[in-house]
Amino acid sequence: MSAEKRDIPVEELTEKQAKSELKILATKIAFHDAAYYQDDAPTVTDAEYDALRQRNDAIEARFPKLKRADSPSKKVGSTPARGFTKIQHGVPMLSLDNAFSDWDVQYFEERIRAFLKLPEENIDVTCEPKIDGLSFSARYENGRLVVAATRGDGAEGEDITANIRTIKELPDFIMGDVPKVIEIRGEVYMTKQDFAKLNTAQEKKGGKIFANPRNAASGSLRQLDPNITAERPLKAFTYAWGDVKGMEWKTQWDFLQTLKEWGFPINPRTKLCKSLEEMLTEYRKLGEDRASLPYDIDGMVYKVNRIDLQRRLGFVSRAPRWATAHKYSAEKAETQITAIDIQVGRTGTLTPVARLKPVNVGGVVVSNATLHNEDEIIRKDIREHDTVIIQRAGDVIPQVLEVVLAKRPKDSKPYKFPKKCPDCGSQAVREDGEVAWRCTGGLFCTAQAVERLKHFASRNAFDIEGMGEKNIEAFFTDKLIESPADLFTLEKRGGRAKLSEREGWAEKSIDNLFAAIDQRRTISLERLIYALGIRQVGQATARLLAHAYGSFDAWRVAMIAAKDRESDAWKELNSIEQIGESMADDLVGFFAEKHNRKILDALAEELTIEDFVRPDTAVSPIGGKTVVFTGTLEAMSRGEAKAKAQSLGAKVAGSVSKKTDLVVAGPGAGSKLKEAEALGVKVITEAEYLKLING
Ligand code: IVH
Repeated sequence: MSAEKRDIPVEELTEKQAKSELKILATKIAFHDAAYYQDDAPTVTDAEYDALRQRNDAIEARFPKLKRADSPSKKVGSTPARGFTKIQHGVPMLSLDNAFSDWDVQYFEERIRAFLKLPEENIDVTCEPKIDGLSFSARYENGRLVVAATRGDGAEGEDITANIRTIKELPDFIMGDVPKVIEIRGEVYMTKQDFAKLNTAQEKKGGKIFANPRNAASGSLRQLDPNITAERPLKAFTYAWGDVKGMEWKTQWDFLQTLKEWGFPINPRTKLCKSLEEMLTEYRKLGEDRASLPYDIDGMVYKVNRIDLQRRLGFVSRAPRWATAHKYSAEKAETQITAIDIQVGRTGTLTPVARLKPVNVGGVVVSNATLHNEDEIIRKDIREHDTVIIQRAGDVIPQVLEVVLAKRPKDSKPYKFPKKCPDCGSQAVREDGEVAWRCTGGLFCTAQAVERLKHFASRNAFDIEGMGEKNIEAFFTDKLIESPADLFTLEKRGGRAKLSEREGWAEKSIDNLFAAIDQRRTISLERLIYALGIRQVGQATARLLAHAYGSFDAWRVAMIAAKDRESDAWKELNSIEQIGESMADDLVGFFAEKHNRKILDALAEELTIEDFVRPDTAVSPIGGKTVVFTGTLEAMSRGEAKAKAQSLGAKVAGSVSKKTDLVVAGPGAGSKLKEAEALGVKVITEAEYLKLING
């Protein structure tokens, strides 16, 4: 989707082009967020999605003034699976931004220089192969392995201590000079050879066949029975630390050497590079050897070597500014489309899907590909029975790259996008400026109702164990559960007896289901908001709303009041950063529907909804304050100043108003300084500010 635009380097964009592109990017990314978080049906690969975000960030960095109120918000990972004890990471496990071209890498480097105000100096960077495995964090206290966890949602993962202990390469004890506490992080993987052997053995036993080494490693590590893990040939590379007490390193390189001395496996292809050219050379060399490496890699990770610089660079919501992953391209294959089906999403979006003759793409058998939307089908002129090239990257649904016209059947006809919902028969509409056709059946469309329920019970929402997609479909068909509150009243309504009449529901599984439901009667406000499946409201937005309104009652009252566009409630909703008018419209629209309010109230009756807990910023001298920077800053760039202030719990505003608590003014400050003086807002110098926050 982004290919045509990515051709213009960001450096060459005019302000006008940048403005219009940011608008398009915001719409596209919001669309993909909705498809991913709300419809559970992403229509682009991770790589494409990341490319859009990357482009957006790059344009915003060049034209900070053009940053939109609805600029794409944070992306969040997945929550831990069931069955494992959850472990809180001492320090969150974050992800990496991606680079797809030399340009992107150059941009990564330039951005670092600009942020640090170091235009000339050499910035050393480590180059580490990006292992396509499963990340883990292992906590050692006084040298002894005490607990290990998967990444999970970054804040908490699954307890895999017993399983990690079965990996011979990872020491149970570290000897010599060891810190009091250290979380060692790395990647668990399976070699290509061991993967092939495992699958042959599984086939003989009639066991599960794994799609690729990564899935095999993941399936083996996330075993509730560590004896099974012990039988599987897992290996690991280590490359980072999380929490650490009692030891420091000057550089990432030094840290890797320490890991080696302690007996941890570090990747032998890791290099220290002094320039962009050296980095790109390493990337290409590794790319050439990729197929012959014993394990799968999907890129090269670049990290700023000096830890003091890493600290200053810090993080942008989901990823560090000091590192990026330079990806290798995805894998492709040729196959035939047997049919084009339409899937109905939770919000009525009709998504076309190509059913394919199963084909192996880089070790994964693929039988479906997304066709995104009508425009995509027209643009690529994709038809039923066409032979196509498909591409797979990461875990999302593969997509069709192009049609092999030479192999098109003679009687082939262009595909006609249906104008009616395939489920309920209602009229489909495509609104101005939208790419998707939508079923207008609303509450009448059972496909939407079922999708909404699936979303409601899904992992990132209510996470009800035993309420998978199949059960929801079956319970819906039999009218046991038609709306969310029904889940919580099922037992009262004689659910036990009804379930016991069903095949496969022994007393134990019924007990388990009701226990799982009861466990979720207490829910955080943000999860509840996300679970409702309101259009455009993904996890990140749900969190923003929970943060802004604090409690369920406050949120509910405000959303109803916001129906009046003159109201303060409407203004307040629109003033939340990253909530644009169209999102606000969808929220208000949801509450304007009487049926929705009824469902919500019935649900609230059954639940204890926890207020949003604000991150603890009370200890910070600027926590909760609104700060404005003006004039020239000398010790740091504007970007660094802003990021630091936000990390200390402050809100950074672009203009001075009555709500401003503090103005930090450098040389050359003009109108904002005057404004502050006129309003009696406290003004301090950069030096005073640094003293304030540092001590
Ligand atoms: S550093 C804050 N280094 O890639 C920095 N990650 O796409 C966090 N990965 O979640 C990661 N090799 O699972 C780092 N040498 C390496 C890596 C690596 C593979 C994985 C890791 C991470 C993912 C991000």
